[in-house]
Formats: sequence, C-alpha cells, structure tokens
Amino acid sequence: MEHLQTQGISVPRLGLGTFRMQGEVCRAAVESALALGYRHIDTAEMYGNEDAVGAAIAASRVPREDLHVTTKVWNENLAPDAIRRAFDASLKKLKLDHVDLYLVHWPSKNMKLPAIFETLMKLKEEGRTRAIGVANFNLAMLKTVVEEIKAPIACNQIEYHVMLDQTPVRKYLDAQSIPLVAYCPLAQGRAASDETLTAIGRKHKASAAQVALKWLLDQDGVAAIPKASRAQSQQANLDALKVKLDEADRKAIAALPKDQRCVNPGFAPAWD
Ligand SMILES: NC(=O)c1ccc[n+]([C@@H]2O[C@H](COP(=O)([O-])OP(=O)(O)OC[C@H]3O[C@@H](n4cnc5c(N)ncnc54)[C@H](OP(=O)(O)O)[C@@H]3O)[C@@H](O)[C@H]2O)c1
Repeated sequence: MEHLQTQGISVPRLGLGTFRMQGEVCRAAVESALALGYRHIDTAEMYGNEDAVGAAIAASRVPREDLHVTTKVWNENLAPDAIRRAFDASLKKLKLDHVDLYLVHWPSKNMKLPAIFETLMKLKEEGRTRAIGVANFNLAMLKTVVEEIKAPIACNQIEYHVMLDQTPVRKYLDAQSIPLVAYCPLAQGRAASDETLTAIGRKHKASAAQVALKWLLDQDGVAAIPKASRAQSQQANLDALKVKLDEADRKAIAALPKDQRCVNPGFAPAWD
C-alpha cells in the first residue's frame, strides 16, 4: 500500500470510512478490514462509534505504529476547553494514548480559527495527536489557516469523487503540498451503479466502484476512505489499486457530470 507523507506522518492512501456504522456492525467491519490489511481507519466523535473502532483495534493486535487512526472534533466543540474535553473523550473511547490525525470536522459560523489551532497545536506538542488537519474547509478558510495562522495542517478531508469537481481546492492543496483525503469516494455508493464506470470496468475485469476509486488514487496527493461494511467490498476496494486506467477511460470519466454533491457543509459559501 502506498502512503502519503505529510507533516511527519505517513498516511496509507486507502483507508476505511466508518460513518453510519456503530456498535457490533462497526466493530466487525473494522476487525475485518484490519485482518485484510487496512491500516488507516477514519472515525469521528460525531459518528458515535469510536468505542467500537477502539474495540476492533484492541482485538486486532496490529502493532500501534503500523496503524493510522484519524478522528475529528465536531463543530459544537470548537472552544478551546471543549476541544480538550472532546479529545480526551475520543482517546478514551478509542483506548489509545494518541491518534495519528485530529481534524476539525466541520466549520462553524462563529469558529475562532487562531484559538482552535493554538489548542490543536498544543495537543500535537503533547504527543497526543501526531498531526492536525481540517475537513470541509473551503478555499478561503484554507488560506486563513495556511497563510495567516500558518498551522501545519496534514490534510483537508473533503467530498471528492468521479461526479464532483474539486479543481480549485485541489490545486491550492497541491501547491501547498497538503494531501486531499477524499470522503464519499464512491458518491455514497452511487458510483457502483454508474453505466459509464461499469463499461470501463468491463474492459479491465473490474467493478464500477473499483474504477471510481482508482481514478481518485491515480491523482498525486489524494487518499480515499471508502466505507464498506462487508469484507467482500473491503477486499474489492483494496484490489482497486491494481486496476490500470487508460487515457480513454479518463476522458470518459472527465465527461461525467461533476456537480453531484452528497454532503453539503451547511453555510459554507461556494467552494471557489
Ligand atoms: N469529514 C466529513 O465531513 C465526512 C463526511 C462524509 C463521510 N466522511 C468519511 O468518509 C467515509 C466514506 O464516505 P461515505 O461512507 O459517506 O460514502 P462512500 O464511501 O462513498 O460510499 C459508501 C457506500 O458504498 C458502498 N460500497 C463500498 N464499497 C463498495 C464496493 N466495492 N462496491 C459496491 N459498493 C460499495 C457501501 O456499502 P455498505 O453499505 O455495504 O458498506 C456504502 O453503501 C465515511 O464513512 C466517513 O468516514 C467524512
């Protein structure tokens, strides 16, 4: 598995998303993924599943240093003392003494970015998170964090897939050598039944979902975190790394509609 190097951490380019899985279902899915070789797990306090993720990690006996765990602070907890409380609760549920990446999950209208990043930086200095980052930040917010606050963010986790254009944000992240972690990389499953992707897949003895994932992972500086509850889909997503797309495939994918957003980060102005 290829990794992205960013701010002192090494992030496996394919991870397991865990949104909408909780309890036993989540524990079983994470255990299965770890057994298949996944080493990057994406969770969040908002998903209500950090305890299940923690139980799966503990049961797996994968050496901690081989594992990348991302969790996130929800936007109601962005005051400095609230971040600390949320972080402590996340670590406790995950049964870990540190996470690899701690993200601001979702912007809020009244967030005070300098105070937020001062707190996140302290957590990093204390060794409780190895790196910090953001999710759902638009270009203006990114510029504030990178150019004014100069926070060493290790990624921006945003929705990105074959049916959604993210060129402006991607170009900025590229120029700053900041990885883009693609969430909803399968457009919440819609990519799996797309006719164009199915036809491309037929050529390569691959599924439409595998084509969608490989299109993302062929791009420099991009990681993807598909959610898959079943071992068969988890394995298929790992196998997507072997698919070889050609110019004609990329042209057909470029012609797909690029305005199919699955998640709308509330108040965020146009992602320009
Ligand atoms: N930062 C944020 O604000 C944010 C927002 C949204 C998501 N995320 C993260 O990104 C992760 C992924 O996004 P998502 O879960 O919304 O959507 P997604 O990964 O694009 O799609 C998940 C859907 O695709 C299906 N699937 C997975 N592999 C497949 C395969 N090989 N063939 C056919 N279908 C397949 C899953 O099936 P099953 O139902 O059978 O598992 C599920 O229904 C989340 O779990 C979460 O960790 C972050």
